[in-house]
Amino acid sequence: MCGIVGYTGKNSAITPLIEGLRRLEYRGYDSAGIALGTSGKLFIEKRAGKLGNLESSLGDQLPSATSGIGHTRWATHGGPTDNNAHPHVDNEGKLAVIHNGIIENYNQLKAELQAKGHKFHSDTDTESVAHLLSDLRKEFNGDLPAAMREAVKTLRGSFTLLAVHADNPGVIVGVRRNSPLVLGVGDSEYFLASDVAAFIEYTKRAVELGQDEIVVITPTGFEITDLDGNAQTPREYQVTWDAEAAQKGGFSHFMLKEIFEQPKAVADTLIGRLTDNNQIELDELKMSDEEIRSLKKIVVIACGTAYHAGMIAKYAIEKWAQISVEVEIASEYRYRDPIIDAQTLVIAISQSGETMDTLMALRHAKAAGARVLAICNTNSSTIPRESDAVLYTHAGPEIAVASTKAFLTQVVAVYLIGLHLAQVRKELTDSEVADLYNELLALPAKIEAILETVEPLRALTRTFAKSSSVLFLGRNVGFPAALEGALKLKELAYMHAEGFAGGELKHGPIALIEEGTPVIAIVPAGHEHSLDEKMLSNIQEVKARGAQVIVIAEEGAEVTGATHVIRIPVAPALFQPVLATVPLQVFAYEMAIARGNDVDQPRNLAKSVTVE
Ligand code: M6R
Repeated sequence: MCGIVGYTGKNSAITPLIEGLRRLEYRGYDSAGIALGTSGKLFIEKRAGKLGNLESSLGDQLPSATSGIGHTRWATHGGPTDNNAHPHVDNEGKLAVIHNGIIENYNQLKAELQAKGHKFHSDTDTESVAHLLSDLRKEFNGDLPAAMREAVKTLRGSFTLLAVHADNPGVIVGVRRNSPLVLGVGDSEYFLASDVAAFIEYTKRAVELGQDEIVVITPTGFEITDLDGNAQTPREYQVTWDAEAAQKGGFSHFMLKEIFEQPKAVADTLIGRLTDNNQIELDELKMSDEEIRSLKKIVVIACGTAYHAGMIAKYAIEKWAQISVEVEIASEYRYRDPIIDAQTLVIAISQSGETMDTLMALRHAKAAGARVLAICNTNSSTIPRESDAVLYTHAGPEIAVASTKAFLTQVVAVYLIGLHLAQVRKELTDSEVADLYNELLALPAKIEAILETVEPLRALTRTFAKSSSVLFLGRNVGFPAALEGALKLKELAYMHAEGFAGGELKHGPIALIEEGTPVIAIVPAGHEHSLDEKMLSNIQEVKARGAQVIVIAEEGAEVTGATHVIRIPVAPALFQPVLATVPLQVFAYEMAIARGNDVDQPRNLAKSVTVE
């Protein structure tokens, strides 16, 4: 978490820094700060709260500076106060550091530095780096890159660090270990940032930075070295989306914009995947037919919303391809002894590609000999880079903390994988695959149709704004959709919300129902295993105990016992989550507004969770 930006070049630094921070605020927003390089000293300003607080305190009395660093924080060590905000400086106030991640051995470093006379002014782990670098820079005769190389050898944990010194303010030194950092190459100006979004307005030329690489930017160029000072060859790529894609485009919130972008995101993720002779084309998997046929098991690792997409993968892949699928919460995965081997395919799902829990689980799986396929929305992020293969979703930048369009595209990506595996293993015929693919192609128009009729749902949602708890019920693939609906409501509306498998209700959760409790029930599509009828029974059970039941059901399906019915278009049963989730997203969005919450930046959260 935390967003980091650095600028050095021909122009004033303040605009790229503040604009960059605004675009990185999704990574953390409990304090923000900047350090501007002016000759001989640094101008530092930092404030608790959102970026707006920093901007107000900056006023228009800024020194002119053509280099600087900026930080937007998601607190780990030390509360969100002015003092704990970054940058952190050494005791001379000449060396400033910003940091994303956790320095695990900061306590020991702090004790050693205090023993040498350094005075600390914050509760953060980061401040120890500022003092350490200050000493090392003196040892290396003012050479900040050399000091950084040496400092990194003593640091443990995950970190992206940027440092600048007042004596040479045009030089910004950065490093990354298990946290993101990317270099932007402009026209006589250079950027370092957690994410290309920070500098996309200025340049689309980006350079990947590897683990433990030290990068130095100056107004005239950049240099990348390893920890021993050996030059590294830059790995440059072009960013494929533009600044406009990251703007609100007339919507009141990024989340609403992203909900409405879902038809396009799903269509873009599906496009061109079926050949003229009805073969699903997924070259990205980099697996031969023989390897696919010999697969024994698939393990999906993911967190939060991406985990729910993984749950849907289990239903789809097991049904179509007849391969056993396990779905694991990434943060739990490596702390047991999972059974994996070379015939296990691990699928890591992540919108950001930077989620530390998923990354660590991925490394664990790779070390155990599994092949890892990433499903990711962020080009060149760490998870795809460390995977054997990557299938990119084409949702475009997702800025709102609550994931919407990324989820739908992740689900669609796992359907594609399931169909491909089923086809290669001959569990589905080519014409069955083609029919299902064509049903997938019909989903964007169906999502569009749902979005055209959400106004009554928004009005209905507001009538529940004072409820203390909302329960979500689903069966089969409706179960992960119910979990996703509950997660959205928790993170946006700060309400107690839980998703249950309909059949589990009677094993405990039904005790939660009181007079008036809102229950959202998703009626499974079709009649397989009479799941639709079983859900109608569940609806009767909660209704009999006083619940107000909002039912999501496909057009034409019989519904009894509902207080309100939301209709969604007809689709094959396994595809229903792509449609049923949309009203749940709108419900959570509207509830957040009704309760006066910050939709795009809900409390305590961050978009990209780069700490374990
Ligand atoms: O970037 P990732 O997909 O790896 O993120 C995983 C979760 O942190 C994420 O889905 C989170 O649960 C969302 N905020 C939910 O809306």
